[in-house]
Amino acid sequence: MRIAVASIGLAALAACSSPSPAPPPAAGTARQAVVVLASASGSRVSGKLTLVPKGDGVLISGEVGGLAPNGQFGFHVHAKGDCSAADAASAGGHFNPAGSMHGRAGGSVHHAGDMDNIVADAGGRAKVDVYLRGVTLGGGAADDIAGRAVIVHADPDDYRSQPAGNAGARVACGVIE
Ligand code: CU
Ligand code: ZN
Repeated sequence: MRIAVASIGLAALAACSSPSPAPPPAAGTARQAVVVLASASGSRVSGKLTLVPKGDGVLISGEVGGLAPNGQFGFHVHAKGDCSAADAASAGGHFNPAGSMHGRAGGSVHHAGDMDNIVADAGGRAKVDVYLRGVTLGGGAADDIAGRAVIVHADPDDYRSQPAGNAGARVACGVIE
């Protein structure tokens, strides 16, 4: 039955597009993912993000609230999609499938999960609009960020200190799903 349904689907696809066979699925196969950031380490930080694959990376957008006004805050993809610990330590270190040093996204050396600090306005809200290059969303490749965690920190990432930019406590955590 499933084969028959798939055949009909392919036939319909062929009928309304070019006759060439459908391309194999891209490395990242999820169309979209969301992250609900919940407070950690006793903070009042929360937020919601949407992730969409784009080119050779993933677009991450949304908003984080409850931050200290006008502050800057470390913001990373961490290796484990586990926000269960009160301090979010359960999410592990920065997502780092290549075994790199910590650094700044776009620089020569950095973790795949390294992103620039988010910046809060006077009301403690930060708009997130990040293009994270070199990762995929879904599909299970080594650089797949689906099922991992996004973390907001109490302090800014200095983009230098090892292993995590000296960004302080984890004040919000959410799983990419
Ligand atoms: Cu982090
Ligand atoms: Zn890092």
